Amino acid sequence: MPTATDVFSKVRGHERAEQLRAAREADLLPYFRTLQSPAAPVVEMEGAERIMLGSNNYLGLTADPRVMQGARDALERYGTGLTGSRLLNGTLDLHLELERELADWMGTEEALVFTTGHQANVGTLGTILSTGDTVIADSGDHASILDGCLLSRAKLRPFRHNRLDKLEKMLERAGEDGGGVLVVVDGVFSMEGDLAPLPQIADLCRAHGARLMVDEAHAAGVLGARGAGTAELFGVEDRVDLRMGTFSKSLASCGGFIAGSHEVIDFLRIASRAFLFTASGVPAAVGAARAALRIIRSDDGPPLFARVLDNASYFQRGLHDLGLQVVAPQALPDGSTIVTPIVPVVVGDDWKAVLLWRALYDAGVFVNVALHPAVPPAGALLRTSVMATHDRATLNAALARFAAVKRAFEAEHGPLPAPRQ
Ligand SMILES: Cc1ncc(COP(=O)(O)O)c(C=O)c1O
Repeated sequence: MPTATDVFSKVRGHERAEQLRAAREADLLPYFRTLQSPAAPVVEMEGAERIMLGSNNYLGLTADPRVMQGARDALERYGTGLTGSRLLNGTLDLHLELERELADWMGTEEALVFTTGHQANVGTLGTILSTGDTVIADSGDHASILDGCLLSRAKLRPFRHNRLDKLEKMLERAGEDGGGVLVVVDGVFSMEGDLAPLPQIADLCRAHGARLMVDEAHAAGVLGARGAGTAELFGVEDRVDLRMGTFSKSLASCGGFIAGSHEVIDFLRIASRAFLFTASGVPAAVGAARAALRIIRSDDGPPLFARVLDNASYFQRGLHDLGLQVVAPQALPDGSTIVTPIVPVVVGDDWKAVLLWRALYDAGVFVNVALHPAVPPAGALLRTSVMATHDRATLNAALARFAAVKRAFEAEHGPLPAPRQ
């Protein structure tokens, strides 16, 4: 008997279909906007120059001549693609060198390079966890972490974003589950820009016998004296079992890695399906990542980390002084504070966020829009992010445009959320 249900029926009636249609009709869709230039501080986008505050190119290295040369050299030497997996025919001496340098940077025994960061998370979590285990994940963790957890068939126990009391409760419950326990958190959360309190999380993991994995996608190349990420910043590198990173942000390329002990990495090397059964990243991507990593680890690295963090503090303060609700500077154990390069502006309502995005876009400023499920319901954000290569004149121009747009927007749509006291 033929089935009565068309498997494609879901593409017609999904819950966002109506919203999407209305947004498209009014040209209000903030996604899939097209660039005609590199991801620089100011870009050419859909026929106009716009200040780029929606990129993850935190150190601005995608245009660095040394990184471009790294890509070019790899292209010339190895060609355009490897046409196969790392396992069979896609491992270059370049991969092995890069893996050694990544492990050295992270201070781990080994590292393994994947074709994307998403695959590094899925390929690690989906392999190291199995039925019977428990994985405890922050509700703000990146989608690729959730995908890896779901793929693994381990019991998933999510806890409310950065709530240590909830994490502790989940660890207590996980103790009764009967299998191994892994806690996985983002070091810097990709939408909110806030830090995971790693020292306390590591303490809880130790007390409950759980392993800890940290996704350093937004922190590697930015935080810590070596730029090795949140674990380094908090001085807990020896208490984090697995550290994931991506090349698609500070490392100015495309790809991902997992760093950890020899025994875990060696197991992933022969068992991780997202590593084994996909084509190796193109040589140019691997060459660019290696060149970027060498800059990060050279004397040129720390001034770049300082510049992007300084820009983040400057821009955060500027937005706050305009009366917008932005993430507050976060306290570090040594008493200092930090603003990560992700500086979200809280809007709340989805439509207001999209309308505000459009007004900024028309004023020549590009930012990202985060709506549910990327953020909690009614927690819509404009996600702004800065680069080390933004100069003060450009950030000031962006702030002036934010000020003008805010004034006009509030006159028409009412007040935006004000800074928290
Ligand atoms: C926190 C986090 N983890 C993982 C990823 C996935 O990395 P990639 O874009 O390299 O696949 C991203 C990027 O989107 C991310 O923000």
